[in-house]
Amino acid sequence: MARIVVFGGTGYTGGNIVREAAARGHEVVSVSRSEPEAPVEGVGYEVGAVEDTAHRVIPGADAVVAALSPRGDMAGRLVEVYRELARLSAEAGARYLQIGGFSSLRPGAGEPRFVEGEIAEEYREEALEGEATRVLLVEDAPSALDWVFVSPAGAYGAWAAGERTGMYRVGGEVALFDTDGESTISGADFALAVVDEIDTPGHHREQMGVAY
Ligand SMILES: NC(=O)c1ccc[n+]([C@@H]2O[C@H](COP(=O)([O-])OP(=O)(O)OC[C@H]3O[C@@H](n4cnc5c(N)ncnc54)[C@H](OP(=O)(O)O)[C@@H]3O)[C@@H](O)[C@H]2O)c1
Repeated sequence: MARIVVFGGTGYTGGNIVREAAARGHEVVSVSRSEPEAPVEGVGYEVGAVEDTAHRVIPGADAVVAALSPRGDMAGRLVEVYRELARLSAEAGARYLQIGGFSSLRPGAGEPRFVEGEIAEEYREEALEGEATRVLLVEDAPSALDWVFVSPAGAYGAWAAGERTGMYRVGGEVALFDTDGESTISGADFALAVVDEIDTPGHHREQMGVAY
């Protein structure tokens, strides 16, 4: 059993990860500013801002999952906040899994990342900020930190929650597409991949993509 701290554990991504990890018997702590609407039995809910809680909840963790989003008052602040989570995780000797975006993936080996090309206006800011959080890890993560930057499929999000199938594929920095040319993953299956990566580490200081 591992002690897993999930920042954003009441959100779409974090909530699924919290449920999956708790179901496997891990000791799970979720951090968010609001109380959970549907608390998961056995999960410890820390209610407070990341800046006020991180120094208290990270020591003693085996794995830290960063699943905040650069929206609302967090827009423009994710790099600064994640830098601190990475520092505290390294200090605690915890594995650090940071959730990012699809657009940080490449369409093909050696090709520019999606974020370097045309991005629809409505996703642009979030894509750029997500990419900046990837660059933070590549260029500036503490040398002792065992990090993974996890990119979901293109059609991933609360608007496309889908169902748990128990299946997923894991790639590196090149995006995975199914036989119909679609890039998709349900919230539950994405969480399965993240918790599998915690239970059986396969990626170290690199990006991983999850899709069907
Ligand atoms: N296809 C894609 O590429 C794709 C699609 C969706 C998401 N994503 C990525 O996945 C990540 C998570 O997104 P999401 O949609 O799952 O997020 P979400 O549903 O908006 O959840 C965000 C979570 O973070 C918490 N939070 C926000 N600010 C906080 C703060 N200052 N202190 C503590 N907790 C805070 C929220 O709770 P409170 O507000 O109560 O604090 C909530 O639990 C992001 O990096 C996002 O870019 C990628």
